[in-house]
Amino acid sequence: MIDVSSSKNNESNDNLTDEFKVTPWQVEGKIDYNKLIERFGTQPITQSILDKVKKATGELHPLLKLQYFFSHRDFDWILDKYQEHENFYLYTGRGPSGMVHMGHLMPWMFTKYLQDKFGSNLLFQLTDDEKFLYAQTRSMEEIRLYTYENILDIIATGFDSKKTRIVVDTKHIQYLYPLASEIAKRITFSTAKSVFGFSNSTNVGMIGFPPIQAAPCFLPSVIEGKPTPVLIPAAIDQDPYWRMTRDVAERMGYYKPSQIHSKFLPGLGMSGKMSSSKPETAIFTSDEPEEIEKKVSAAFTGGQATVGLQRLLGGNAIGCPVFWYLRYFFDTERESDERLLKCKSGNLLCGECKSDLAKGSKSFITNFKKRREKAKDVIANFMYDGQSYGK
Ligand code: TYM
Repeated sequence: MIDVSSSKNNESNDNLTDEFKVTPWQVEGKIDYNKLIERFGTQPITQSILDKVKKATGELHPLLKLQYFFSHRDFDWILDKYQEHENFYLYTGRGPSGMVHMGHLMPWMFTKYLQDKFGSNLLFQLTDDEKFLYAQTRSMEEIRLYTYENILDIIATGFDSKKTRIVVDTKHIQYLYPLASEIAKRITFSTAKSVFGFSNSTNVGMIGFPPIQAAPCFLPSVIEGKPTPVLIPAAIDQDPYWRMTRDVAERMGYYKPSQIHSKFLPGLGMSGKMSSSKPETAIFTSDEPEEIEKKVSAAFTGGQATVGLQRLLGGNAIGCPVFWYLRYFFDTERESDERLLKCKSGNLLCGECKSDLAKGSKSFITNFKKRREKAKDVIANFMYDGQSYGK
């Protein structure tokens, strides 16, 4: 595999400043993932961890091999526990602020791989309260609609219905609130301010929210009646929640939750992650083929201004969102390495990459939509009801 992982070879554009910001609600600037590991105090995923995964699963998921999942907290500990026959739960989630885009699907697809390989139960949280509280202009009605639509996406991802339960905060709060209260009692406002950057103008709903997202870290222990390991796959923007949760875990008699953190799938614009707030640069699971075609054809690339210059100078694949999107989603490792070399040497034009991306995305979304339709009939099977499951 070609090494594309050094901090210099950053997966966003070179013409931005070195400043970047990553919080659960804002991701801005040119992200240096190595610096982020230092800033957040997480650990890089090393070869010895990859070897442990391979030993346990027989194969390495491409997103691990490509270092898309690049950082962790106690992932090695979870793998050791598994070897000692102590099973872990998976926990991940979604804030239903809009329709789901392909960036959101990345951690979910990886979570499905972990569920398949390790046979783990999964808790999937929908933080409808968080998304209502965060945006001044969003009504509960709107959030309710997106919650339903997002549930279809979760089910369409292909999780095992016997081993997966969805918790919607405003609907299932009775299962979360006792735990959230225990957590909240152990966190001062001063800690919450420093972890999340809350200020005097933050509404009190947001200030009180983090324990609700922390609660599913301990729900498996309640379900199982004993301390139970939990692994959280998500992009690294969610890490502040886990930093806070890990701080209180042992004081509450539970294991610290483990995490495996991914990078961000870039949007199709000049910079930034794929985000619902820039819909023209994101591909949604609800998009029609014509919309996908239009978005991809308007995508920013690392190409030169003219075909002649491209042939002469070669393109900048590392700064090209189309390249990364293809690498993480549709190309095999070999195809992607070849694409990189051909682009750099001027033997590949942007039109060809865009055409590959449009074709891959259209076919993926068409199939995904069929699964979304089928999901409508099985929603009830996935909803958490306070009972143990997956046995
Ligand atoms: P949300 O809805 O912002 O994001 C859902 C999941 O998608 C990841 N993500 C991305 N991954 C790759 N590329 C992108 N462009 C991209 N954008 C978003 C997020 O990291 C997340 O994993 N508060 C949470 C909901 C939540 C949660 C959780 C998430 C509740 N419990 C446990 C992860 C784990 C939220 O608003 O996620």
